[in-house]
Amino acid sequence: MNLVFLGPPGAGKGTIAKVAKEALGVPHISTGDLFRANIKNETELGKRVKEILASGGLVPDEITIKMVENRLSESDCEKGYILDGFPRTIPQAEALSKMSNVEGVINFVLSEEEIIKRLSGRRMCPSTGRTYHILFNPPKVEGIDDETGEPLIQRDDDKPEAIRHRLELYNEATAPLIDYYKAKDVVLDLICTNDPKETEDNFFALIKDRK
Ligand code: AP5
Ligand code: MG
Repeated sequence: MNLVFLGPPGAGKGTIAKVAKEALGVPHISTGDLFRANIKNETELGKRVKEILASGGLVPDEITIKMVENRLSESDCEKGYILDGFPRTIPQAEALSKMSNVEGVINFVLSEEEIIKRLSGRRMCPSTGRTYHILFNPPKVEGIDDETGEPLIQRDDDKPEAIRHRLELYNEATAPLIDYYKAKDVVLDLICTNDPKETEDNFFALIKDRK
């Protein structure tokens, strides 16, 4: 199944993708995670995008499209994929339509107030990218990753100024994709509650008939 996760920053796309990829047996492709891995490994791409990510800006379409095209050509995508954070602009959606047939777009629905709470309380394991929330999804030991034992960090773009910028860009560049995909009749609205388990159940109910 070819799925796109569309939603504002901090909506819980990565959190749902973690369980959905196991259940559906398809890879989870997060453009944000791919950029962060490149930054960590100090690749040429990583050097080009480091400042953009820290400020909460959008990486130019051309770079992002090329990266996704390469990733979708890998053999593990033959059975399908979950694209998380791509497309984020109309030109990206147009490019994707030439690469692959999108069968479902999960539209993550929640308030801006909730988004800000989620992003400011998010913590991340630096080596695996595993994500927690200090209130809603805490690790077993405060500040420590459950599996690797490493100290958790806060993403640079989860600081207030970058959060504001990301939300503005979401409303300007990405939200229009909801109507773009509605016209193709592939949008499924996911109501995101404050309970990760309940949100998971909502997700599986939504895709039940489409598997
Ligand atoms: P990216 O990493 O994709 O960031 P994002 O879209 O802003 O989304 P996040 O990862 O912040 O949030 P999420 O929805 O995954 O939420 P999470 O599950 O972590 O992109 C980063 C940057 O890369 C961009 O700003 C841009 O610079 C660049 N980029 C990426 N793609 C691009 C593209 N296509 N074009 C151009 N540039 C691109 O959850 C958030 C928090 O909430 C966590 O703490 C979690 O524990 C908690 N939580 C989750 N679910 C629940 C729940 N149900 N109840 C309570 N808490 C919950
Ligand atoms: Mg994410």
